Formats: sequence, C-alpha cells, structure tokens
Amino acid sequence: MSMQHRTPARLGRPLSVVGQGCWQIGADWGEVTDESATAVLDAALEAGVTFFDTADVYGDGRSERLLGALRTRLSTDGAAPVGGASALPFVATKASRRADPFAPETFTEENLRAWVERSRENLGMDTLDLVQLHCPPPAIYRDDRVFDVLDALVQEQRIAAWGVSVETCQEALISLEREHLASIQIIVNPFRLKPLEQVLPAAAEKGVALIARVPLASGLLTGKFSATSRFAEDDHRRFNRHGEAFDQGETFSGVDFETGLAAVARLEQALEGAMPLPEASLRWILAQRGVTAVIPGASSGEQARANAAAGSAPTAAQQEVLQRFDAAVHETYDALLRESIHPRW
Ligand SMILES: NC(=O)c1ccc[n+]([C@@H]2O[C@H](COP(=O)([O-])OP(=O)(O)OC[C@H]3O[C@@H](n4cnc5c(N)ncnc54)[C@H](OP(=O)(O)O)[C@@H]3O)[C@@H](O)[C@H]2O)c1
Repeated sequence: MSMQHRTPARLGRPLSVVGQGCWQIGADWGEVTDESATAVLDAALEAGVTFFDTADVYGDGRSERLLGALRTRLSTDGAAPVGGASALPFVATKASRRADPFAPETFTEENLRAWVERSRENLGMDTLDLVQLHCPPPAIYRDDRVFDVLDALVQEQRIAAWGVSVETCQEALISLEREHLASIQIIVNPFRLKPLEQVLPAAAEKGVALIARVPLASGLLTGKFSATSRFAEDDHRRFNRHGEAFDQGETFSGVDFETGLAAVARLEQALEGAMPLPEASLRWILAQRGVTAVIPGASSGEQARANAAAGSAPTAAQQEVLQRFDAAVHETYDALLRESIHPRW
C-alpha cells in the first residue's frame, strides 16, 4: 500500500498526501528528546512521507534544525545527492512569529529577510522549499509591501515559493486573490467544515496547495481521550483551552473538550469498528476536493507510521465506510459544533 502524492500547479512539486507535522518535535510542550524526535521523523520517512511542516519558532528553531540534520544525513548516506533538493524531502517552514511584539509594524523587509536567513541556516538549505506567513495579524493580509518582499525572495532564489498559514476562512479567501500565492495552510478536519464551502473550491480552481493542519483536533479525533484525561501543565491542551496563549482554534480545533468527546462518540458509532477513527478522519480530509495534504503531529514513531498508512489510495470497501462517515461528520457538526465553530473560523 503506497503513499499517494499530489502536485498543486502553483507549487509545481509533489507532496506526499500525508505530511509530518513538526510542531511537537520542537518540544515547546511535552518532553521530546532528540532521539524520540528523530524516531518520529525516521518512521514518517520510512512510511513514505516526503513532506514535513515546521516553523522557525517551533522550539525556537529546534524543529528546523532537526529537519536540517535529517537532510544532511540523507545527503551523506547517499540517499539523495547533496544539493539535489528534489530528491530530498519537501520542507515547508513558517516565518513571522519571532517578532516581539507580534504586530503589523514588525513585518519590515529587514525582519522578513532576517527570519528567512535564519531558517535557511537552520535547515541547511540555499533555497527554502516553501515559506508560509505564520498566522500573521489580520492587517498583514492586505499589506502589499510584505508580499513584495516575499516575491523578491523568490526572485533571489532564497525561497522557491511562499504561502500563508491562516486562522480563518476569510483570511484564506483574501490571500487567494494574490497571484503568486502557492499554498494555504488552514485547519480542516471533521470538526472544522467551513473551509469546504468556499476555501477548498477556490484553492482547487487556482492550483494553490491546501495543507490541512491539526487534522486530529489535537488528538481528540483519535478517540483516545475521556472525561478523566489529564494533560501536563506545559501542554497547550491544558493551558490554551480558552485561547489563553494563542488562538483558541489551535487547541482541540476550538471545540470545547466535553462537546468534543460527545462528537467523537457519535463518529465512533457511525464507524461501527470498520475503521479506526484517526484513519477515518485523515482519509475523510484527503477525500475533500481541494485538499493537497494533511499534516498530523505525532509523539511517537508508532503514531507517525499509523498516520502515514492513511495516505494510501482507499479501497472500494474503505470508500464505502468513508461515505457513511461523511454523513455522520455532517450530522454531528450540525448538531453539536456548527453554532460555536462556524461563525468564528
Ligand atoms: N499556526 C499554525 O500554522 C499551526 C498551528 C498548529 C499546528 N500546525 C501544524 O500542524 C501540525 C499538526 O497539528 P497538531 O500536532 O497540533 O495537531 P493534530 O495533528 O491534530 O494532533 C496531534 C496529536 O494527536 C495525537 N496523535 C497523532 N497521531 C496519533 C495516532 N495515530 N494515534 C494516537 N494519537 C495520535 C498525539 O497526541 P499525544 O501527544 O497525546 O500522543 C499528537 O500530539 C503541527 O505539527 C504543525 O506542523 C500549524
């Protein structure tokens, strides 16, 4: 069962449909040793993942440096020719959250260039595959100066392409008006259906890559949590439940934990054990027209392997299960989630 790939026109490079989210390996939350981070990356690679999503702020550069080390190892092992970017995994990074204060006035040409230079160094890449603005303040989406700098960085071959990671559908739609936009990263999962209405069709029409992040709603959509689940103090699933540290939507997809458990119970019931919930969630996202790839995070090699397995083409029997699941996703969303989620993101 092999990994599928999709090549959005504006990106011009194939991405494995299951990518590896690399926020966790930065160890901003939870304990992650270099060995366990490397185990996640190796497991993903071995399972056919060729697309890794990171950011300059994940572990203040640690996540990027681990990916840089992986690229060096692959080059020197002879798995890929040195400098042969296309034979090495595709790395999407993000820039703009290193500024303090994180405000529109910090998006100067000088800062943008400095952030990109640091990522080039961390990743050991002359030309970064993709740089995404990292959920910038809303005013930035209309600021041509910022996008002119990104275009100049492409001209100078410091970056091959640029995109945006957004919080809301409205930010995605504004960004889709820009001719050189190569990718949109947005939360899409069975608890987040609004992007299906306009964002996905517009991205598909324009050939813009659509990267679906937080596909498992921070683990809720694995079905492994219960009312008695507890999270460590430094885990955002404890300290950011109400958006105390960053946008609430990044934790459990913005879904209230108890409501999320009720929604999971309905989805599990619809599956009747025919497919594990995390696999159904990832496959369901990938079945939405316009989605290029999903980027689940993983805290172990085992999770990375299980997630990558959802990147194979679904069999006829799996498609039948997914059809049933799709109906349950929409019913559950309408009954439990639409009212709180739809107007916000
Ligand atoms: N603003 C942005 O641009 C932004 C924001 C957030 C995320 N992201 C990107 O999106 C990626 C994914 O987001 P995320 O990690 O927050 O959320 P996620 O992918 O929805 O959930 C990941 C969590 O689910 C659990 N998990 C994953 N696979 C599993 C499996 N097969 N079985 C059981 N549990 C499993 C793990 O929880 P445990 O730790 O409990 O094992 C893991 O921490 C990030 O790594 C990052 O690259 C970008």
